[in-house]
Amino acid sequence: MKKQYVTLTVNGREYRFSIGDGFGQVPPSETLSQTLRKRLDLTGSKESCSEGACGCCTVLMDGKGVTSCMILTVECDGKNIVTIEGLEDPDKGLDPLQQAFIDEYAFQCGYCTPGIIMAAKSLLLENPHPTPEEIKEGMSGNYCRCISHYTVLRAINKVAGNGEDKTAVMHRANDDVENPIPIRPEKYLSPYAIGTQSAHSLND
Ligand code: FES
Ligand code: FES
Repeated sequence: MKKQYVTLTVNGREYRFSIGDGFGQVPPSETLSQTLRKRLDLTGSKESCSEGACGCCTVLMDGKGVTSCMILTVECDGKNIVTIEGLEDPDKGLDPLQQAFIDEYAFQCGYCTPGIIMAAKSLLLENPHPTPEEIKEGMSGNYCRCISHYTVLRAINKVAGNGEDKTAVMHRANDDVENPIPIRPEKYLSPYAIGTQSAHSLND
């Protein structure tokens, strides 16, 4: 029988949506990113490329980073979603990653930052003490147009307990810098989307 409802937990709160094309219903073609941003007003995670290539829309799904623009909401039944808005602990305050990003000025315009923090959270949940190289690989699915990668690496290395990553040096705005993080758009289809593959593909 065709599913009539989709139930998902977002930042600890359960939501139940009727599926369909009627007023107020979630159409089968609606992405998780659209549901989060437009229905739930959780606009922290951004949508930029809308095709799995930049990581701006990364959220946690059952503890793993996924690109929410690549997943249909109807595929999320029973899933536990955490967005940047839900990362702060109500008792303890900011997540250590959020604090490290502030302390290390690990952003410029900030557009990519929520997705980068959620991808870093996913990495640290899987491996609390990644090496600097593992961090670079782990972050290779997230793109920053402002080249904040150096300070991003410094912040994540700090939380991972690696001390100062020598490659994560500060640079001046006009320096001709190379992105220290490899760019791997295919990363968004795996492992970020493992078990949550939608019907979308980069060729759609
Ligand atoms: S907006 Fe989802 S990966 Fe770019
Ligand atoms: S800080 Fe501007 S896109 Fe990353």
